[in-house]
Amino acid sequence: MPKYLLFKDLSEAKEKVPLYTTALVRAGKLEICLAHTEEGFFAVSNECTHQRAPMHKGKVVQGCKIICPWHNYTFSLRNGEELSEHGCPSLRTYPISISEKGVEIEL
Ligand code: FES
Repeated sequence: MPKYLLFKDLSEAKEKVPLYTTALVRAGKLEICLAHTEEGFFAVSNECTHQRAPMHKGKVVQGCKIICPWHNYTFSLRNGEELSEHGCPSLRTYPISISEKGVEIEL
């Protein structure tokens, strides 16, 4: 799987994307929402599976979840699952790896 370098190290990631915030990452044609939670960094597709809202404008909350900015559906950042029981498909998730190479996302 190709990897895409996001930050040179964890300190830079934490500085640029503070706890409970998000960043929009563009990798090729993909738009990805990077979220900083109490369990670390998670990446999901930036398009809500309900009506395509930009997830990076949503709210990251405790429990490793993100709330969509348009209709407040809640999704798990761990596995992308829609948790508010509206029957929406899961968000796609992308693994984040942290190593001596930096903070990378696997596409
Ligand atoms: S567009 Fe995300 S909940 Fe409606």
